[in-house]
Amino acid sequence: MVGAKLAIGALLAVLKYRLFGKRTPFFVSWRITDRCTRKCAYCDFNQPGDHVEPDLATSKRLLHEMAAAGTKWINFTGGEPLLWPGLPELLGDAVARGIKISLCTNGDRLPELAAVLPRGMEVSLSLDGPESVNDALRGKGSYAATVRALETARRENFERTLLCVVTRENYQHLDFVYETARAHQTRVQFQFVTPYALNSQREHGLSTSDEMKAEVVQYLRPKIQSGDPWIAHTKQVLDCLAGKNETTFNPCIGGWFGVRVTPAGELTNCWGEEIDGPERVSCLNRPFREAFLALKPRVCHRCWCIGVVEANMLASLRPAYLWDFYRRRRRLA
Ligand SMILES: C[S@@+](CC[C@H](N)C(=O)[O-])C[C@H]1O[C@@H](n2cnc3c(N)ncnc32)[C@H](O)[C@@H]1O
Ligand code: SF4
Ligand code: SF4
Repeated sequence: MVGAKLAIGALLAVLKYRLFGKRTPFFVSWRITDRCTRKCAYCDFNQPGDHVEPDLATSKRLLHEMAAAGTKWINFTGGEPLLWPGLPELLGDAVARGIKISLCTNGDRLPELAAVLPRGMEVSLSLDGPESVNDALRGKGSYAATVRALETARRENFERTLLCVVTRENYQHLDFVYETARAHQTRVQFQFVTPYALNSQREHGLSTSDEMKAEVVQYLRPKIQSGDPWIAHTKQVLDCLAGKNETTFNPCIGGWFGVRVTPAGELTNCWGEEIDGPERVSCLNRPFREAFLALKPRVCHRCWCIGVVEANMLASLRPAYLWDFYRRRRRLA
């Protein structure tokens, strides 16, 4: 969850940009590896062959440069980030520098590694429905692995979120995901599947039709409106995701508030367009801040990624959104 200090820091970074044009890499989404333990139906990160990955020393140098450049929140993702051997040490380093850490994981390796991960970090686990539905999309045994990881995260007192990718195969099973979240006192986010598999141009045929999207919105809206504490969406974000509303702040936060780092050490300002966006700047041969400032923020109205949509709404500074955001924080406190 976004704590008060982090929320105030984020607002200050937004104001600095809006008033003075000062760009800060407040939020970093660090894809540390493309290797994965799974091969989900809508995602093509896990490809055969060699994968470029950073070494621990280079990653630590980058982390220190991020902290010096004003980074306050790093989300580690992949592929499967818990496959990268240096992760526990890098996370410990980040926490020691006062950076908030979140980890987007399929949970396969969480039970075995939980003891060496820093306390207080946030874990986002993927769940797409009941066992048969989930495993058809995410591979045999993935439901059991997510439930095990959820129980581990709860026992270890990690902050927790479930992330559900909505497809035509599971859009009628969202209540199961919601009830699982509630039973484990865990927030849940829903994001619609992209038309092509992540990291490739493969058409997976799992996209939802407009009618299916409308059903999802109909299911979620009353829960959000009644202040349900386990749904981690504001109503404005729900409308954006469902394509009802295009009013995210522009330019997009990529390149002035947030940045994505690839396993090859490149920075990109976009989470879309074959996952890394068209513009990439290496931060291995120049300081992180300089590489970040070389990116140009882009005007863009649509995004599949719930985190980017949320951040763009926050950057809009619209009173209705800020009020909803604040109320949601209070409910979860
Ligand atoms: C790329 S994964 C990386 C982290 C980890 N391997 C996992 O699956 O949780 C990050 C999130 O993106 C979601 N995702 C993967 N492919 C997607 C797609 N085509 N559209 C929308 N979300 C997708 C995953 O389900 C997961 O929740
Ligand atoms: S969604 Fe996550 S678990 Fe599934 S293949 Fe992609 S990176 Fe791996
Ligand atoms: S809103 Fe547009 S520019 Fe920003 S990350 Fe998403 S797809 Fe990329």
